[in-house]
Amino acid sequence: LFAAPVEFLKGVVAMKGLPPADRIEVCFAGRSNVGKSSLINALTNRRNLARASNTPGRTQEINYFTTQDGPYLVDLPGYGFAQAPVAVVAKWQALLKEYLSGRATLRRAFVLVDTRHGIKSVDEEILTLLDRSAVTFQVVMTKSDKVSAQEREKVLAQVRQALSKHPAAYPEIVLTSSEKGEGIETLRAIIAGLD
Ligand code: GTP
Ligand code: MG
Repeated sequence: LFAAPVEFLKGVVAMKGLPPADRIEVCFAGRSNVGKSSLINALTNRRNLARASNTPGRTQEINYFTTQDGPYLVDLPGYGFAQAPVAVVAKWQALLKEYLSGRATLRRAFVLVDTRHGIKSVDEEILTLLDRSAVTFQVVMTKSDKVSAQEREKVLAQVRQALSKHPAAYPEIVLTSSEKGEGIETLRAIIAGLD
């Protein structure tokens, strides 16, 4: 699935711009700066396929990437970005909600959570939305290289506890580092196994 080059298809700012629902897709959601674009780059072995940046709020569109004979990979705008203008935030949130609840071919939403921070209240809002939309979601911890083994366990316990309240949660949590490559192969296998 990831052997052939993954290509950028299009950036979408409204539901009517979504590509035809002619195959399944997985999306990457998470707080601004959590590492969504970096994870897509790591999965696809492309340094700059999805634009990663130090500036929170870099990804402002729903970006579609095509895999060979596999699902679309969908990079979502980050949420919880305090510095963004209110009107912009409202627009993103509306689009995010519409997308998460209205895309029939969405097979799994990967919700990215920073291994240093665990699940925050803004994440809870998305998890609740996913429960309501009956979209199976799976938590992917990011930036695992930034924490000690001990801290990791602590945060994982917090995340497990939070997930126990969400019926749409897939129980396996994937720990990743886009920087060091941890968990990337595992996540590729999960995506390749969806149908
Ligand atoms: P928005 O598009 O703004 O929502 O952000 P994003 O979630 O796409 O985050 P992005 O991939 O742009 O990464 C944000 C910052 O975190 C960048 O400076 C990345 O280099 C850094 N980063 C991402 N993943 C990792 C990781 O696994 N380890 C480390 N150490 N840094 C990471
Ligand atoms: Mg991004």
